[in-house]
Amino acid sequence: MPAPKHLAQRAAKLREQINYHNHRYYVLDRPEIPDSEFDRLVRALEALENQYPELITADSPTQRVGGTPLPEFAQVRHTVPMLSLSNAFTDTEVSDFVRRIHERLELNEIEFCAEPKMDGLAVSLVYERGLLVQGATRGDGTTGEDVTQNIRTIHSIPLRLIGSDYPQVLEVRGEVVMTKRGFAELNRRQQDKGEKLFVNPRNAAAGSLRQLDPRLTALRPLEFMCYGVGNVENGSLPDKHSDILQRVQQWGVRVSAQLEVVQGLEGCLDYYRRMATKRASLPFDIDGVVYKVNRLAQQEQMGFVAKAPRWAVAHKFPAQEEMTRVLAIDVQVGRTGTLTPVARLEPVFVGGVTVTNATLHNQDEIERKDVRVGDTVIVRRAGDVIPEVVGVVLSKRPAHTETFHIPARCPVCGSEVQRVEGESAARCTGGLYCSAQRKEAFRHFASRRALDIEGLGEKLVDQLVEKKQVSTVADIFALTQQQLVELERMGPKSAANLIEAIEKSKATTLPRFLYALGIANVGEATALALAQHFGNLDDLMSADEEKFQQVEDIGPVVARSLHTFFQQQHNREVIQKLVQAGVSWPAMEKRIVETLPLAGKTFVITGTLSSMSRDDAKARLQALGAKVSGSVSQKTDYLVAGADPGSKHDKALELGVAILDEAALQKLIAS
Ligand code: IVH
Repeated sequence: MPAPKHLAQRAAKLREQINYHNHRYYVLDRPEIPDSEFDRLVRALEALENQYPELITADSPTQRVGGTPLPEFAQVRHTVPMLSLSNAFTDTEVSDFVRRIHERLELNEIEFCAEPKMDGLAVSLVYERGLLVQGATRGDGTTGEDVTQNIRTIHSIPLRLIGSDYPQVLEVRGEVVMTKRGFAELNRRQQDKGEKLFVNPRNAAAGSLRQLDPRLTALRPLEFMCYGVGNVENGSLPDKHSDILQRVQQWGVRVSAQLEVVQGLEGCLDYYRRMATKRASLPFDIDGVVYKVNRLAQQEQMGFVAKAPRWAVAHKFPAQEEMTRVLAIDVQVGRTGTLTPVARLEPVFVGGVTVTNATLHNQDEIERKDVRVGDTVIVRRAGDVIPEVVGVVLSKRPAHTETFHIPARCPVCGSEVQRVEGESAARCTGGLYCSAQRKEAFRHFASRRALDIEGLGEKLVDQLVEKKQVSTVADIFALTQQQLVELERMGPKSAANLIEAIEKSKATTLPRFLYALGIANVGEATALALAQHFGNLDDLMSADEEKFQQVEDIGPVVARSLHTFFQQQHNREVIQKLVQAGVSWPAMEKRIVETLPLAGKTFVITGTLSSMSRDDAKARLQALGAKVSGSVSQKTDYLVAGADPGSKHDKALELGVAILDEAALQKLIAS
């Protein structure tokens, strides 16, 4: 049964509406309606088309992804060849370009259209009577590949032009690009799936457009930007390039927002400088700018050389990617003990600076990229971003190279290096002993929630460590007033105060002491749980991983970290010296959880508390026997809600869980 007339009209109306909003969203970046409303329109059209398949038209927005994977792309011959551009790398070369135009045209004032040079791949889109009939890659300029099915999945490309005053045949040319953000997201997805990463947005765009299955292309964040027209039949266009692009834009095709009409050499160079400063903040990669003689009549007079027009030039920015060689791979130890491999490079000028080293992040990264000493690599430095090794040029790999591994012992202190399963970081376990971690270890040790040594701040720690007055935290307790007075900004009075504060800090608690040791993954709450479980330091230091796991909330990762820490001879020595220096704590009752006031109660903490951190609140509640969990469920007894609580608060309301505000929490703790 054919579709009733009113339904055919409704389908046409829906198509028109969807195309309108699609254009606002993808081309103008100015959506008018929420996504949900847009989805409703699409679903309504889909329903109609399902019922009456004859209502489906080629430009229907439901037809962006269709068809089955192709065995290969068909070849397309370009009616008008797709040319390339000559390059200029310096102001002088641009000046030569402008001078040649002056000479040939016998004119002194030339108008140019200045545009960004987008870093993607060139495509040609053919519209017949306003309908997109073909999309092709540039190929060798004469023959390209028919990628129509893939092109149709790009939302910034209209399937039908807007209006009616377009030429009967109009070939739109431009660049398919991927936004930097889209690229980062795509690579994140690729990584999660364990699939190959793309080295830059251009490669990602090219790879995506050349998928034989258009359904795969549809999943990639591609965009199109027009920079010109090719074949035009039966219809006329304005006589200036910039006006043509403006018309094309009115017909619904995206054109770069950075387009400008400028006058003469000065105008060109000024545009170049402005775009160079904007480069890093643009959503797309650009590798230069393009100047085009704006009047078509003048373009014609200029003509062509070989494969490039004489009326245009690409003024390139300094390259963001260069090749160089890996001289060595060093391993640095950060202040928290993380080991980071760093490639030492043969100096290379890239992105405007000379780069001599680049981080390789961690073992996973090294394995993924398989960077080896002696390799030739591609180094990228985009904007102010730190230089990065994007990949190895395998064809240039010399014989007898070896895969690189993070060492098993810390290059600074020789302690065992631990790699936690499921984490990519490798860490030195010589926390109290490793000089790379010394400053951080001291700062943490003296901090308020650890030994709380008032007056032993960051600046002082830096001086003490740099002047080698202390090498392990135990040395703090041997400092004399005499030594302190010699430090910068330290008078006799403050030195005396500090000595007193150090003395006072000796009387501490076991949880504070454990926390102060700075063991990886052991925060205040864990330190408290450990102290309560073991009751004394000796039992704790001789526990094995299994024993540690018997402590509430301690899993295999933390257990391993604890065990490794206490097994390191130099860590044991430091602990012994601390005790010998007089650091002590009152005996702890082994806690019998059942008798504590909040035993058996489960709390969840959400939002921002003003009087304490969430960790603090957690530790205090646990000290009273409560369990503190991360998510609200039927088993939750109380939700502690600070400012801006969010979804946990909603869930608690929904489940009827009792909610405590900060004041109520404090009252509870105090009582
Ligand atoms: S015009 C006859 N304008 O650069 C002139 N090209 O090196 C033909 N490109 O194949 C090109 N941005 O892929 C032109 N604003 C722009 C461009 C641009 C990027 C690419 C395009 C072309 C290549 C030429």
